[in-house]
Amino acid sequence: MIKLNNVNKIYRTKTVETLALNSINLDVKEGEFLSVMGPSGCGKSTLLNIMGLIDEPSEGSVSIGGYSIDSYNGKALAKFRNEHLGFIFQSFHLINDLSVIDNVELPLLYRKISAKARRQLAEEALTKVGLKNRMKHFPSQLSGGQKQRVAIARAIVGKPNIILADEPTGNLDSVMGNEIMDILLGLNQEEKTTIVMVTHDELMAKKTNRLVRLFDGSQVV
Ligand SMILES: Nc1ncnc2c1ncn2[C@@H]1O[C@H](COP(=O)(O)OP(=O)(O)OP(=O)(O)O)[C@@H](O)[C@H]1O
Ligand SMILES: [Mg+2]
Repeated sequence: MIKLNNVNKIYRTKTVETLALNSINLDVKEGEFLSVMGPSGCGKSTLLNIMGLIDEPSEGSVSIGGYSIDSYNGKALAKFRNEHLGFIFQSFHLINDLSVIDNVELPLLYRKISAKARRQLAEEALTKVGLKNRMKHFPSQLSGGQKQRVAIARAIVGKPNIILADEPTGNLDSVMGNEIMDILLGLNQEEKTTIVMVTHDELMAKKTNRLVRLFDGSQVV
């Protein structure tokens, strides 16, 4: 589903060069739930951003669902990302001026669907994460766990085949963290969504199909 071939990522600033990823070869199978662990700065977010076509490798290649991604600009890529990938971030990234339902509808604005259909899909996604009763709330009126559930609803509203989650439980206590984890496990098992999740939590990682460990940009397990 996601294939990385000899991926290197080098960040260059005026004074330093950082090898953020070093010869990564990774094949994430369709329907797999993969977790990624490793110390701060080892390249986890960089890896996820490259898988999510937010960032491009300095060397090596990426293919997703059999499509090789060789050009990182243009509308075609934005469309591809919008249709196939859902993102969840540690700090939620919700838009504070928009209600919960409007936040969830956002990814659908780039598609040719009627307003009514958008609303219906957003309601369905919010129902899945148990937040239909908070549709009209604004992000500032929600708890951390609820915000993260809205972010999950936004990630799944377009029915992506891949979800990329960067420490989705990092800012939550263990009860809320487990709730989020259960939602992700449900998506993986019931909808067969392929998931790649960065986590610092060994217990969360144990619940997934496979664990990849990074150290200084290299894959160690
Ligand atoms: N835009 C950038 N410019 C220069 N260096 C960067 C940039 N982004 C990341 N880096 C460097 O690349 C390395 C990997 O960063 P990355 O964000 O992938 O780490 P991480 O494993 O996600 O860490 P954390 O657990 O703290 O989120 C780090 O050493 C970081 O300083
Ligand atoms: Mg990170």
